[in-house]
Amino acid sequence: MKTVLITGTNRGIGLEFVHQFAVDGWRIFACCRNPAGADALNRLASQYPGQIDIHTLDVTQHQHIEQLANTLSDESIDLLINNAGIYPSSHVDAFGETDYAVWQRTFEANTMAPLKIAEALIRQVANSRLKTIVTITSKMGSIADNRGGGSYIYRSSKAAVNSVMKSLSIDLSEKRIIAVLLHPGWVKTDMGGPDALITTAQSVAGMRQVIGNLKFSDSGKFYAFDGQIIPW
Ligand SMILES: NC(=O)c1ccc[n+]([C@@H]2O[C@H](COP(=O)([O-])OP(=O)(O)OC[C@H]3O[C@@H](n4cnc5c(N)ncnc54)[C@H](OP(=O)(O)O)[C@@H]3O)[C@@H](O)[C@H]2O)c1
Repeated sequence: MKTVLITGTNRGIGLEFVHQFAVDGWRIFACCRNPAGADALNRLASQYPGQIDIHTLDVTQHQHIEQLANTLSDESIDLLINNAGIYPSSHVDAFGETDYAVWQRTFEANTMAPLKIAEALIRQVANSRLKTIVTITSKMGSIADNRGGGSYIYRSSKAAVNSVMKSLSIDLSEKRIIAVLLHPGWVKTDMGGPDALITTAQSVAGMRQVIGNLKFSDSGKFYAFDGQIIPW
């Protein structure tokens, strides 16, 4: 049975990842901040008994990450998906309105947590068959694609995680671990809003296809959910 660990699985894109991997017969380590309040995730876990283990994880709490790595010390993780993320509101992320405390918290969640999680779980990933780390970033982190300006906090947090994961892909190449960045599209979630272009089902189906086609030589690339390469 293939195994996947996903962060931020109580709603949005993370929840849909759990759904689609469960349908496909994977074993899932589904992480979220508050399992007791994660009704949709708990319903999925009872629909697919024995496949979904729910773990408490606030990705900004390094103690939680280390505890999780301890709990999973005997497991292998084929696929690690860093999905949890935050998008600060424009009231705190526009020129003249920048909230620097929010910027710090956004960096902790969007930029630092994916590396900390990879550091903590590297042995479990290296011991697996697929050896793949995927970080959900955003096209808004592309400097080449920035035509709209603004969103200093969110854009910089995603541009920085792109840089972090590019380095990781190089450092882990000796272990034959693949690390890639994936833009999920503009998706109808709490973050993407109702006017977004695609559903979570479309986004996740596309990203799973990209992941399924990855070869070792693809490590370090920045893909959109439809398989297109995004310029840095
Ligand atoms: N939706 C889009 O159009 C879009 C576009 C580009 C990129 N993305 C990226 O896709 C990923 C998923 O976004 P989404 O649209 O599904 O967003 P969402 O509906 O707002 O869900 C965000 C998820 O991240 C979790 N999260 C936030 N901070 C966390 C923390 N400190 N510890 C653990 N979990 C935390 C949330 O948990 P709580 O419920 O506990 O807050 C929630 O499960 C993000 O990385 C986002 O930047 C989304």
